[in-house]
Formats: sequence, structure tokens, C-alpha cells
Amino acid sequence: MRLFITGGAGFIGSNFIRHMLGAYPEYQLVNFDKLTYAGNLENLVDVAGNANYSFVKGDICDRAGVDQAIAGADAVVNFAAESHVDRSIERATEFIAANVSGTQILLDAARGAGVTRFVQISTDEVMGSCAEGEYFTETSPLRPNSPYAASKTAAEHFIRAAHVTFGLDVVTTRASNNYGPFQFPEKLIPLMISNALEDRKLPVYGDGLNTRDWLYVEDCCRAIDLVMHKGRSGEVYNIGSRAEKTNLEIVRTLLDLLGKPHSLISFVTDRLGHDRRYATDPSKIESELGWTPRETFESGIEKTVCWYTENSAWVERARSGGYREYYERMYGKRG
Ligand code: NAD
Ligand code: TYD
Repeated sequence: MRLFITGGAGFIGSNFIRHMLGAYPEYQLVNFDKLTYAGNLENLVDVAGNANYSFVKGDICDRAGVDQAIAGADAVVNFAAESHVDRSIERATEFIAANVSGTQILLDAARGAGVTRFVQISTDEVMGSCAEGEYFTETSPLRPNSPYAASKTAAEHFIRAAHVTFGLDVVTTRASNNYGPFQFPEKLIPLMISNALEDRKLPVYGDGLNTRDWLYVEDCCRAIDLVMHKGRSGEVYNIGSRAEKTNLEIVRTLLDLLGKPHSLISFVTDRLGHDRRYATDPSKIESELGWTPRETFESGIEKTVCWYTENSAWVERARSGGYREYYERMYGKRG
């Protein structure tokens, strides 16, 4: 099996590559990544020398480049995206290019290359904010509220269209908020851990009572693996771990684990259009594919805090852009 993985130098993609190389030593993996600010090959130093892994620097919006790299692939797993809501509020242009146009270009290239399975990594955010006491299922209406979510929703429509129009074998995952090692320190959990470690303020948006369902990244990777191998063609699968927490609960837990005072919490102006609550019902993937998360929130968050505490140099290089020097050292001279 030859997998064409886009966005594999990012947070979930790099964890997925590590998971797949461990679980399927005979598979060949191509990691196709543009290396935006969020793409960091340092996330994969431990597997870079694996004979079944290769990296290609490329943009999913570049059809010729995709065509060249995708040749011979059996399956595509599309992680590549602009992924941060706050950045999409500042400027959505790159989100439309990567998340929408890029997905369509990949779909066309996949058909051309005779790919037999296309896995789209979507998000629970396509369904918008969930009312208290309700849970989104795979048939809930798509009501994206941020430019990021709108771009991911648009991509899902093109995925569906490729399935209906051309019979492409597609499956879509909609995961809830992931956390764990190698997450870029602009997202809530790594940002708060790294600020706390430096005794800096923890900027909580609004009243801090927005809730998210937190999913440990390795559990998400196992779910994507299952959907890729066993998911029914044309179907969507929610991935969530029923671990709903308010943002305030998250930052207090992090401060307690790090032994830092709650006085570091600083309430700041709310995010525009801030979704109040994300809550998905993962019953379909549990009953159809037998997936359940292995980590509880308590075990996952402890592992995560340990990882960031032990990898402060990674955080520093991610924040400063210093990790780009790694790319230059590894690949700069290779043209
Ligand atoms: P990330 O921002 O950490 O990584 C994105 C990766 O995509 C980076 O390596 C980047 O260089 C690459 N990329 C961006 N544009 C590209 C392009 N045009 N061509 C090739 N590569 C490009 O994101 P993440 O958090 O790992 O998310 C991965 C995927 O999972 C995204 O599609 C996101 O929408 C989805 N998702 C994320 C979460 C979450 O909590 N992080 C939850 C649900 C779904
Ligand atoms: P984030 O990690 O950006 O994920 P998403 O918006 O995709 O769910 O944010 C998670 C939650 O944390 C969200 O409700 C916004 C909030 N948040 C803060 O309160 N302060 C911050 O500095 C950040 C980045 C997020």
C-alpha cells in the first residue's frame, strides 16, 4: 500500500505518519507538504530515515507538482490546510486557496492517478456551534461560522461531488479539537502551556466558558486509520471523545499540572463570531468501526504537559521560526 499524505509536517499529519509507520511497517508513505509556518519537519526527525517514508516539498494547489508526486499512490489522506480560526478571521484568502482549491486539485489528481481511496480530514467545526444538551451527528446541517470552517465546509461539498459525479471512493472524518505533542503553539493548549512555563499571561477569550470536546491526537490518528481502511465509501465519520471542557477548565488544569498560579489567567476581548460549543456524537465510528479513545482527558493532558515541558526547545524554535533552519540544513542543498 502506497499512501500519499498531504500536510504531514503539521500537527495531526506528523502524528499520523508516525502512527502508520509503526502500525504498518510494509506501507510506503509519501509526505507532501508546502511547509507553511505550521509545517515543521522537526516533527518527523525520528522517522526521516525510514526507508518507507519520503518527503516531497509541494503545494496541493500546484497540479503539476501533485501529479508528479501522487503517481503510484493507492490512497490519499488530505491533512493539508490552513487550520487556525484566528488567522482566518484576519485574512481568509489562503484558506480558500489551500482548503478549497487545493482539495479540488487533489481530487482531480487522485482520479487521474487511479487512486482507490481518498480520505478527507475535515472538522466538527463545519457544523457550527452546538446548542446546550445537543450533539452533532453526521447528518446535522452544515452551518460554519468562521472563515476557516466555511472553507472546510466548501471542501466537503467538493468531496461529496467527486463521489457522486465521478464515483471516487471518498471518506470524510470530522474530528473534534485535537491536542498532544507537536501542536503549533498558536492553538489553545500549547499556547497556554508555553506561556505558563514562561510565567506569561494566559489570554482567555471572552468569559472562558466556550466548550470544546478534547481528543488526544493519537486516538484521532487511530480513528483516521480505521476510517481509511474500513469506512464505507461516501460516508462521513465524527471523531470525538466525549470530553467536553470549558476553556477555563482547560487553563486551570494546565496551571495546576504546571504548579503555576491561577492569577496568570487574563480575560481578553472575545474572538469575533466565537462558537460557543462544539459537541459531536461519535456513536457511528464506535459502533461501525469499533473505535474508542484510549486516553481519558486526564491521562492525555498529563502526557501533553510533560511533552511540552520536556520539549521547550521545540516550542522556542516553532515560535521563532527557527525550525526552518532545519529544512535548509536537510534539504536546502538538494535543490
Ligand atoms: P496544522 O496547521 O498543524 O498543519 C497543516 C499542515 O498543512 C502544515 O504542515 C502545512 O505546511 C500544510 N499545508 C498547508 N497548506 C498547504 C498546501 N497548500 N499544500 C501542502 N501543504 C500545505 O494543522 P493540523 O492541526 O495538523 O490539522 C490538520 C488537518 O486536520 C486540517 O485539515 C484541519 O482542518 C483538520 N482538523 C484539525 C483539528 C485540530 O484540532 N487540530 C481538528 C479537526 C480537523
Ligand atoms: P483553538 O485552539 O484556536 O481551536 P478552535 O477555535 O478551532 O476550537 O481555540 C480553542 C478554544 O480556546 C476556542 O474557544 C478559543 C479559545 N482560545 C482562547 O481563549 N485563547 C487563545 O489564546 C486561543 C488561541 C484560543
